[in-house]
Amino acid sequence: MTGILLNPQAAAPVGTAVGARSLTFAYRAGLPPVITDLTVDVPVGATTALTGPSGSGKSTLLYLLALMIRPTGGEVVWDGVPASRMPDAARSRLRAAQVGFVFQDALLDPARSVLANVCDSGLFAGMRREEAADRARDLMARFGVDHREDHKPGEISGGQAQRVAICRALLTDPRVVFADEPTGNLDDESASIVWQALTDHAATGATVIVATHDRSLVALADHEVRLDRFGGATVRAVRP
Ligand SMILES: Nc1ncnc2c1ncn2[C@@H]1O[C@H](COP(=O)(O)OP(=O)(O)OP(=O)(O)O)[C@@H](O)[C@H]1O
Ligand SMILES: [Mg+2]
Repeated sequence: MTGILLNPQAAAPVGTAVGARSLTFAYRAGLPPVITDLTVDVPVGATTALTGPSGSGKSTLLYLLALMIRPTGGEVVWDGVPASRMPDAARSRLRAAQVGFVFQDALLDPARSVLANVCDSGLFAGMRREEAADRARDLMARFGVDHREDHKPGEISGGQAQRVAICRALLTDPRVVFADEPTGNLDDESASIVWQALTDHAATGATVIVATHDRSLVALADHEVRLDRFGGATVRAVRP
């Protein structure tokens, strides 16, 4: 795991690697905010299920916490530092080094091979090409997609694409993993392999946040953050 603190001099509050402080976000001026005055800490070394009705802002909150978009108000805090205010280049470096992201629709580059897609996150993080390819092949074998490494994303199934996206997200052994409906396209067996991989990753001390509608997955998580339709949230421990 890449245990780089954003600012090693700043004492990180225990158990709060990533959090939101009075976070507000609207996609456009004049539209009602999707997230309103949300303050939440995501527990480290644990799995947190992010739940809520369709349209309640789960994907949006993941993009905000992962520093892909900037808040309209409030801030996203990493290790006690308001990371959402950092310049673009610094946020990109932080993401490359510490974040793994599984998009709701996999979001693979259709023009490049499955192997190249998986290796990308490692190359962005400064891994050597051979090291990235070795790790990618190990992960792809674990997720049963290694026999598809030379295929293009358009030539594999939706469930396989989702597993490839998980491999890409885990390649750098990231300190924080955001997964947006990572089991949505998967059969029960593949879903349980994916969930086990995310749980194992959290057990190494990483923070894992999974947006899901699947109550059986929520029951397996350590914590639940539930978004309501009004841009707020409640937090509870699933397994105290
Ligand atoms: N690019 C965008 N521009 C404007 N509004 C958007 C955009 N993306 C999402 N929204 C709106 O923001 C709200 C939250 O969307 P979001 O995708 O975060 O919800 P979600 O909880 O992830 O839903 P689902 O469970 O269906 O994936 C919705 O009302 C949606 O229509
Ligand atoms: Mg979503």
